[in-house]
Amino acid sequence: MYRGLSFGRSLENNDRSTETMSTSLKNVKRVTTHTLLEMKVGKIPISMLTAYDYSLAQLVDGSGVDVILVGDSASNVMAGHETTLPITLDQMIYHASSVVRGVQRALVVVDLPFGTYQGNTKGALNSAIRIMKESGAHAVKLEGGREVLGSIERILTAGIPVMGHFIERILTAGIPVMGHLGLTPQSIYKFGTYVVRAKEEQEADRLREDAKLLEAAGCFALVLEKIPAALATEVAASVEIPVIGIGAGGGVDGQVLVLHDMLGINKEFNPRFLRRYADLHGVISGAVSSYISDVRSRSFPNADEQY
Ligand code: KIV
Repeated sequence: MYRGLSFGRSLENNDRSTETMSTSLKNVKRVTTHTLLEMKVGKIPISMLTAYDYSLAQLVDGSGVDVILVGDSASNVMAGHETTLPITLDQMIYHASSVVRGVQRALVVVDLPFGTYQGNTKGALNSAIRIMKESGAHAVKLEGGREVLGSIERILTAGIPVMGHFIERILTAGIPVMGHLGLTPQSIYKFGTYVVRAKEEQEADRLREDAKLLEAAGCFALVLEKIPAALATEVAASVEIPVIGIGAGGGVDGQVLVLHDMLGINKEFNPRFLRRYADLHGVISGAVSSYISDVRSRSFPNADEQY
């Protein structure tokens, strides 16, 4: 169970309290992990988008999104790599610090990149501390279930041994951790493909168990990527922490999309779950073509656009 759960317990799940909370959330000065928990309790869907730079983070935050993820998808959409594996910790910190400078309200979560936390709990804690200290972000996200539990626990908690048993947990570094299950792109070479995960009962069972383990370890939220909607709905109902989906249907506590995909900047990526809210590819290419043509025809700059 999430340790901060008593917070917001007074909110009941009836229509009036949802309405009141919805109104009060508009005035939230800074979204925190506790705000997200309250949103789950009040059944208010959480909106999350990626951003990797100052200007777009400022726009996205100003529009009122609840969570901004500095995703390692920066490796694809910003750097043009085929996978998320090549991006480094220094590069993630550069993106994250640019985002943090543009954000006033949203909770900023940063992906721990591939190779900085797997199989090395001390390395995981050091990577998380570097992100928090050098970027000013509010939380980290890492991919995987039981196989990375040691790293998650090291970042979040330490056991206090009493007569040989770990009976109590305390916060150590105090870094909030978001989990990520289902399709975990850092494991693409293990999966071999980006198809829907956990369709078979054995993998679905493992995911159900992993969600519980991550909640018990103290993760403040989970991302579920590209799994059957019915399974995601069931997992969201089985844990008390918020579950945010991407390609996981509408029965979860919130949604996340990659900003460049939903704005239609990329044309090549067309999964079924993606809704495009704009055609920035068309808008930007049209604007650039008009600029080129104006330069060629010498209609730019005109008399008003010079000194
Ligand atoms: O890196 C990323 O953008 C992500 C989202 C797809 C959840 O992890």
